[in-house]
Amino acid sequence: MKRLTVPKLQAMKGGDPIVMLTAYTARMAQLLDPHCDILLVGDSLGQVIYGLPSTVPVTMEMMCAHGAAVVRGSYHSVVAVDLPFGSYEASPERAFDCAARILKETGAAAVKMEGGEAMAETVAFLVSRGIPVIGHVGLTPQAVNALGGYGARGRSEAEAAKIVADARAIDAAGAFLLVIEGVMESVAAEVTRLVSCPTIGIGASSACDGQVLVTEDMLGLFERTPRFVKRYEDLAARIEAAAAAYAGEVRARGFPTEEQVYRPKV
Ligand code: KIV
Ligand code: NA
Repeated sequence: MKRLTVPKLQAMKGGDPIVMLTAYTARMAQLLDPHCDILLVGDSLGQVIYGLPSTVPVTMEMMCAHGAAVVRGSYHSVVAVDLPFGSYEASPERAFDCAARILKETGAAAVKMEGGEAMAETVAFLVSRGIPVIGHVGLTPQAVNALGGYGARGRSEAEAAKIVADARAIDAAGAFLLVIEGVMESVAAEVTRLVSCPTIGIGASSACDGQVLVTEDMLGLFERTPRFVKRYEDLAARIEAAAAAYAGEVRARGFPTEEQVYRPKV
């Protein structure tokens, strides 16, 4: 299968819905890849893989290591990697250095960064220098300390207007895709209508040009799942049952048996 490209994704605006899931490991990437258009190496790996309290402590080293694994495990989807908190906000130059390092060390095609009007100059700086950028507006988890939580955004008229302005600024700066997270349906619909790039919703209704979920949430593998997640599997229960079965057999000397044992060939 030939890998999709950024221009091809960009051209999907208003067409078939774009399918995106997160992936952090090679094997998971392999399993998801044939069904997706984009695999996102999200900084949600902080909570999902590393047990961190938020995405704020996530490092460049983590993003590079997991990004490389996902590229190795995929052949079809565009792979995009989140710029972690602290790696891009200070200046366009610093953002370029970090984004370039991610592309060089992982082989991914694009980076994603959170933020609106304040980050527009940085998005334009990267795009004009050959780095495709995905924007991320609405609920921006890296700003949890400023937002005070993970509640949906855009409930007040002022907040809704700010999200629309943020989206338009990132679109005008040249982002090829825009993630909209945790916003009222009306806000997602207005943004999708007003921006030229495809929008990808997470907790942002079906008004968007595509959808993304954190794979572990969708699989029922992560404890805390917000209202907007649909669980397509209950893997936590299956894993617990498998671990209990294994533990029971080991303790009862029921595993290993003849089938799993090496003996000299005669
Ligand atoms: O880190 C992440 O998984 C994300 C998606 C939820 C959009 O940013
Ligand atoms: Na993220």
